[in-house]
Amino acid sequence: MNILAIESSCDETSAAVLSNGKIYSNVVATQLIHTQYGGVVPELASRAHQQHILPVVDKALKDAKVTKKDLHAIAFTKGPGLLGALLVGTSFAKSMALGLGLPLIEVNHMQAHVLAHFIQDPKPEFPFLCLTVSGGHTQIVKINSPLDMQIIGQTRDDAVGEAFDKTAKLLDLPYPGGPLIDQYAKNGNPLAYSFPLPEMPELDFSFSGIKTSFMYFLQKQVRENPNFIQENIADICASIQYTLVNILLKKLKKAAKETGIKEIAIAGGVSANSGLRTSLIELGEKMGWKVYIPEFEYCTDNAAMIAMAAHYKFLENDFCDQTVSPMARMEF
Ligand code: KG4
Ligand code: ZN
Repeated sequence: MNILAIESSCDETSAAVLSNGKIYSNVVATQLIHTQYGGVVPELASRAHQQHILPVVDKALKDAKVTKKDLHAIAFTKGPGLLGALLVGTSFAKSMALGLGLPLIEVNHMQAHVLAHFIQDPKPEFPFLCLTVSGGHTQIVKINSPLDMQIIGQTRDDAVGEAFDKTAKLLDLPYPGGPLIDQYAKNGNPLAYSFPLPEMPELDFSFSGIKTSFMYFLQKQVRENPNFIQENIADICASIQYTLVNILLKKLKKAAKETGIKEIAIAGGVSANSGLRTSLIELGEKMGWKVYIPEFEYCTDNAAMIAMAAHYKFLENDFCDQTVSPMARMEF
């Protein structure tokens, strides 16, 4: 059973081929055009997806040594994401399925981030908890089976990836700033500056207040010393990262306690953060959790995770028809 999957929800054009539950190719074209604008420009993302999609799909088929005739289904990201960007992948997948007479499988991008854990071994056992952290989302998800998941906590305002990126912008770092904060933090003292953690009820998160505290802190310091940022970049990044990671892990700990679940995973772009990975491993050892962290390749946006989600939908005969449209916002 061969599935071709296409991902185009944000600024990565990706295609992957999965055969009998195993990934054989995963091609990702990153759009560098957004760097100069300090964030993803939706119109430019759509245009870049249109330019990349054909060569990316061709390469995914070639890498997997599969031809169009060998395919059994076409999967695509239906949402959530940028509408214009999603439209490119959706239209491409629909046309290809129509032309080849193949069934179509729609995939929820956030569910796919969670199911990236089934690409490689060891795989989490059900039920497990997944902290899904990306540029647009921050969620704690309880997964009962591959297609049965429930969001038990989420952000009420900004996503943690957004907090990383917007803070990086204050530090004059190019977009996406999350990985750069991570880099600088490696040489800094995480306790150099401290910030108050937000008080949020239940398992929910908030990142808008902390983002503002970072901003006021930096403005005050720069008024006193115009070179404050350049002179202390490593300590600033380490302290900011430490704060953001603490907010995430505090709620994850609460979720594990409340549900009694000890199988704990992380997913999404921010799960590539080395501070989060290290702190989660340490916390896991202390709490007696079994911790699952995906390979870097499967943390940020990729079509392999879309293919994995499609694999489970294929097994359930969960197909969609040609009337399907992308959705910018989408629940599970
Ligand atoms: O999942 P993803 O690739 O795209 C979305 O669906 O949003 O996540 C992108 C986010 C960006 O905010 C980026 O800055 C962040 O993930 N990110 C990181 C790291 N790598 C990617 N944030 C902190 N540390 C990293 N190493
Ligand atoms: Zn994503």
